[in-house]
Amino acid sequence: MLLLEPPFAFLPVDYRVRVATEDWERRQCARLRRAVFCDEQKLFAGDDRDERDAVALPIAASYCVLGAPEEVVGTVRIFELEPGVWQGSRLAVHAEFRRMASIGTQLIRHAVCTAHARGCRRFVAHVQEQNVPLFRRLRWTTLERVELHGRPHHLMQADLASYPPRAGGEVAFVAELRRAA
Ligand SMILES: CC(C)(COP(=O)(O)OP(=O)(O)OC[C@H]1O[C@@H](n2cnc3c(N)ncnc32)[C@H](O)[C@@H]1OP(=O)(O)O)[C@@H](O)C(=O)NCCC(=O)NCCS
Repeated sequence: MLLLEPPFAFLPVDYRVRVATEDWERRQCARLRRAVFCDEQKLFAGDDRDERDAVALPIAASYCVLGAPEEVVGTVRIFELEPGVWQGSRLAVHAEFRRMASIGTQLIRHAVCTAHARGCRRFVAHVQEQNVPLFRRLRWTTLERVELHGRPHHLMQADLASYPPRAGGEVAFVAELRRAA
């Protein structure tokens, strides 16, 4: 349940993106993934978890209240496919927070920069076709087009030079809101 149900009394501007270590963050990441990939996009029936989750690092974007992370509104997971090759998947932002505070962009940055700090030499993701322009702007290139879960995707690779290693587990940002309150 979101603390701030729409229509919002105010829009959160303080966000924290970090590797999810707390139980509540991991629970809320899982819940958000189910809401987006099962209920909204209907890519999976009931549960989108798979064997990658046993090894993947979940990353959570939360808005903050009084400086402390309050609720997860975005997530992505990263894992090492083979030595030096990392993959990101299950990127999701709560529907009410999309195209508003660059949460998706911040999650992509944190995912790749975190992997880079852990020895990643190549970072790839299967990107749903409608999101390809976003990734292109963030310096990703298409390697091939593929069909996944019955939907068109691009297998894309990040330009690692644009994603310096980020060893700290978290980053805070103040959003420049792009939507009228
Ligand atoms: C894809 C997704 C993660 C992006 O999250 P987001 O927080 O909206 O991302 P950003 O705000 O950083 O940028 C998204 C786009 O909105 C644009 N945008 C943001 N605010 C805007 C505004 N006020 N007016 C116009 N455009 C705006 C960005 O420039 C970007 O443009 P694009 O759609 O042309 O690429 C989100 O839409 C989502 O969860 N979708 C459903 C699940 C999904 O598709 N997952 C990804 C699988 S590959």
